[in-house]
Amino acid sequence: LSSKSILTHRFVLSRYAEVTAALSNDRLTGGGDDSGAHVAVRDAARRAFSQQHLAEWREKMEASALALAAALPDDEPVDVVLQFAIPWTITLAGFVTATPASELPRLARLASQVFIAAAHATDLEMPDAARVASAELAAALSSMGAAAPIGVQAFVALTQTLPCFLGAAWRSLLDNRGELANLRADPSQMPRAVEELLRFAGPSRAVFRQAASDVRIGDLEIHEGDRIVLSLSAANRDPERFENPDRLDLTRDAAGHVAFGRGTHFCAGASMIRAATAAATAALIDYLATRDVERATQLDGFAIRGVTSLVVTPRRD
Ligand code: HEM
Repeated sequence: LSSKSILTHRFVLSRYAEVTAALSNDRLTGGGDDSGAHVAVRDAARRAFSQQHLAEWREKMEASALALAAALPDDEPVDVVLQFAIPWTITLAGFVTATPASELPRLARLASQVFIAAAHATDLEMPDAARVASAELAAALSSMGAAAPIGVQAFVALTQTLPCFLGAAWRSLLDNRGELANLRADPSQMPRAVEELLRFAGPSRAVFRQAASDVRIGDLEIHEGDRIVLSLSAANRDPERFENPDRLDLTRDAAGHVAFGRGTHFCAGASMIRAATAAATAALIDYLATRDVERATQLDGFAIRGVTSLVVTPRRD
């Protein structure tokens, strides 16, 4: 055994300056870095989410969000994640991956198994449960042929990560009524608000890396083979980078947050998620403004967090 294999360390980086330096350092490699399949997914996703596609999808997204919001019952408790975000994001995944509607519930069930296991990951290696469900989902998607080019990661992100983020974003708005009211009064603030919601409540809590060679980040010596955890959620609340970081302030300039990572691995779905968050929140904002939170269920994974159920009731004033 070489001394290196014995003396590997694990570090958790949580300051904004260190997390961003580590994200931008290609000697710190991620899970599927060397695999052709990973690069293919990334490239396919970037093509699929071209500006032209996004413009087409934006219209569909907005129309379907408005239709779903209009159909929500007015005078009873409603779970806006289960009854709005999830059905809507499944529809979205359907048209993005061109999956027939009849297949969607089965694929979404598999995606939820991948998601739950991935949410609790604490290291680069995917947990076994996620690997099995992920292989099954990949096989199901590929049996549908070229119609589903962007694969497992996109499907899981759209049907699982996105609704869980929407739940967290809406809960943050309901906990900060003044911010909600201001946004409702001036919808032109939506793009800026979406960035702040990502900074404040983004679902990716941590990403993982391994050092391909010795690397220095700030004062930290990282040796070849060391494994590191980059806490994106902590970096997004670093007071040295964001003033009053624990305050949701929809007027702040939150650009520079790392909710989608940075550098080589920057999220290929970011523009889609930004557009989707804006469309769903705009469609639901009048409804939210007249509701109180009755109950919320939090997902607190090591790698992913969010709100998986958000029951709201008509406001008593
Ligand atoms: C709320 C939803 C989403 C969040 C918060 C999110 C977040 C992230 C983050 C933090 C990374 C960087 C990972 C790292 O540095 O190790 C990433 C990478 C990635 N994301 Fe997303 N993502 C979301 C949705 C999506 C969607 C819808 C797609 C659809 C294609 C997608 C595709 C990818 C791909 C392919 C990568 C890897 C890029 C690479 O390694 O080059 N993501 N995402």
